[in-house]
Amino acid sequence: MRHLLSPMDFSVEELDKLLQLASDIEKNPDKYKHMCEGKKLATLFYEPSTRTRLSFESAMLSLGGNVLGFSSADCSSASKGESVSDTIRIISCYADICAMRHPKEGAPMVAASKSSIPVINAGDGGHEHPTQTLTDLLTIRSLKGRLDNLKIGLCGDLKFGRTVHSLINALVRYKNISFVLISPTELRIPDYIREDVLEANNIPYEEVENLEEAMSSLDILYMTRVQRERFFNEDEYIRLKDRYILTKEKMNYANENMLILHPLPRVNEISVEVDDDPRAVYFKQVQYGVYVRMALILTLLELV
Ligand code: CP
Repeated sequence: MRHLLSPMDFSVEELDKLLQLASDIEKNPDKYKHMCEGKKLATLFYEPSTRTRLSFESAMLSLGGNVLGFSSADCSSASKGESVSDTIRIISCYADICAMRHPKEGAPMVAASKSSIPVINAGDGGHEHPTQTLTDLLTIRSLKGRLDNLKIGLCGDLKFGRTVHSLINALVRYKNISFVLISPTELRIPDYIREDVLEANNIPYEEVENLEEAMSSLDILYMTRVQRERFFNEDEYIRLKDRYILTKEKMNYANENMLILHPLPRVNEISVEVDDDPRAVYFKQVQYGVYVRMALILTLLELV
């Protein structure tokens, strides 16, 4: 039995196979619509979500399976003090596979250690968000035609941004990747990513504060939200939240093929007027999230 706790749980070859499967699902959805009949997916969400939880549910329903779960800790027995370890033993009796989001780093790993069904990390605190990374990889691969030879700008909250941490972990395994890390000093990438991932793999990167100056050389601009829920100090959040706002005027600095991705939700960091720019692909990215989660469910349930 396999879990997905980090994008590193799949080799590059396995990732390529999964992304290929997702692309086939996109083209031939009818081929897959009965493949999970009789199977159940549990969504255990201890933190709010729109995309991840509902895309998992949509994915399972599109495969002919069923879904159950909870959307906040308050409406589960976690509110009475039940541990993640106990909860997963219970859920293992009710479902065939589960997706878990939790505010504590490592909670899905604890669940996996006690589970008799595959556990998917749907985001754990400021740590990792591997299925967002699968979504990002499928988006880039589908729209750019490659996952190598790319210069990627990551902008915003690089300290707490789990989507950024997982995406860097995944992309450093492809050829000729470089990063521009765009953030205020207070939200720089954590040392463990800089040293253990970027430097350990000899990946070229630069850390800058100015978005406009960085834009002209990028193939991908990955915008992120400054996450209020990760700050201990509200004044600090208010000071930093609008540091980067991508506007139509600023898009003049970008090259004509640069794609803008964002894991969403967006607050102010991309002006709505940018949505009509053909380079803005964050809503297409949402659709790719369903295909890739369908592919992931089929893979972990060993149905392909
Ligand atoms: N991208 C993402 O994780 O969105 P949700 O928080 O809405 O699931």
